Amino acid sequence: MADPRPAPGGFPIVGIIGGGQLARMCAGPAAELAITLSVLAESPYAAAAQVIVSAPVGDHTDVEAVLAFAKQCDVVTFDHEHVPADVLAALVAQGTAVRPSPEALVFAQDKLAMRERLTALGIPCPRWARATTAEEVTAFGEDVGWPVVAKTPRGGYDGKGVRVVGSAAEVADWLAELGEILLEACVDFTRELAVLLARSPSGQAAAYPVVETVQTDGICTEVLAPAPDLDPELAARATEAGLRIAADLGVTGVLAVELFEVRNLDGTVGFVVNELAMRPHNSGHWSMDGAVTGQFEQHLRAVLDLPLGSPRPRADWTVMANVLGGDYPELYPAYRHLLARDPELRVHLYGKEVRPGRKIGHVNVTGADLADLRERAGHAADYLQGVVTE
Ligand SMILES: Nc1ncnc2c1ncn2[C@@H]1O[C@H](COP(=O)(O)OP(=O)(O)OP(=O)(O)O)[C@@H](O)[C@H]1O
Ligand SMILES: [Mg+2]
Repeated sequence: MADPRPAPGGFPIVGIIGGGQLARMCAGPAAELAITLSVLAESPYAAAAQVIVSAPVGDHTDVEAVLAFAKQCDVVTFDHEHVPADVLAALVAQGTAVRPSPEALVFAQDKLAMRERLTALGIPCPRWARATTAEEVTAFGEDVGWPVVAKTPRGGYDGKGVRVVGSAAEVADWLAELGEILLEACVDFTRELAVLLARSPSGQAAAYPVVETVQTDGICTEVLAPAPDLDPELAARATEAGLRIAADLGVTGVLAVELFEVRNLDGTVGFVVNELAMRPHNSGHWSMDGAVTGQFEQHLRAVLDLPLGSPRPRADWTVMANVLGGDYPELYPAYRHLLARDPELRVHLYGKEVRPGRKIGHVNVTGADLADLRERAGHAADYLQGVVTE
């Protein structure tokens, strides 16, 4: 596998641990910025390894592999949050610039640590508790009311690691296996929102407009940017909370703050934080085509401490629809058809094998008529999944 070679002129090399679609989507912006990427990939066929010249294969839990990879890079960042603490500590000890730092990243890795820290900061959270025994689960359920939401503190994604439970018995396996879990009150939200921003090591920050995210069966399926009819005061408070979290935790790179919009007893709207991600995030995919600076370029700028680009939207609305895998593995014919049907669609596919329910791409479309954009993006995603054939 090719060693990374910097572009002439003193341009840096950014290493990304993990070869998924988020690393892959950094490739276009990196080329434009003249920044060389190197990715530590799970396999030679990983989504990012298909498009990034330097893509050594290695395991993100293998300390030797990660250290050797990082020695060739000026800065190291992440495609996912699963790099273990001892590997991160070894990177820092070796002198690698790790962005975000392990001290910040832990709040995206560990939902219990996140709840503790955000609560201490006075950021609104659902009612929550740490449970280590069935008795503690029962006590929490009786206190806040069943059902409650139980979460594995680490390793969850796409709703895996989240269960809505009506009794302690339903989490007995997790307690036995993990020793501790996070419990949250089941939030009766009006919708889900996300704040996306980037922060650089010098402390510059830039926030995108607050978006609405729609999840189906625990997976994000659609994003509306900006969130329609959002109370401007709520948008300002949510953005301020995101910026405060980023500064307080010392986040570098892109930070996504997932929120639940809630209606208070007095009829006003508010929010509680669901979770944090410290990398480009699904809620920001719209920005690739809908903002002056897309989140992947912004993440590269931020981890390199370059001045940030403008997060301003380019159009009134951008709708993003995730493409999930269907039963049919041959995507190309459907893809050809869509490009012909709607030349304004921005179709992003990740080079992943089709498996039912797996995120294999997304579609963005921008314009002035939100209902029309939703229809077109949704149709394109459904067509690629094979759930509509017209
Ligand atoms: N306390 C809660 N009350 C109600 N619904 C919740 C709660 N926590 C999570 N959910 C629902 O479950 C979804 C997934 O939860 P969460 O974001 O914690 O899991 P994840 O698997 O880490 O997420 P991701 O898909 O973002 O990787 C949320 O988007 C929301 O729809
Ligand atoms: Mg989530």
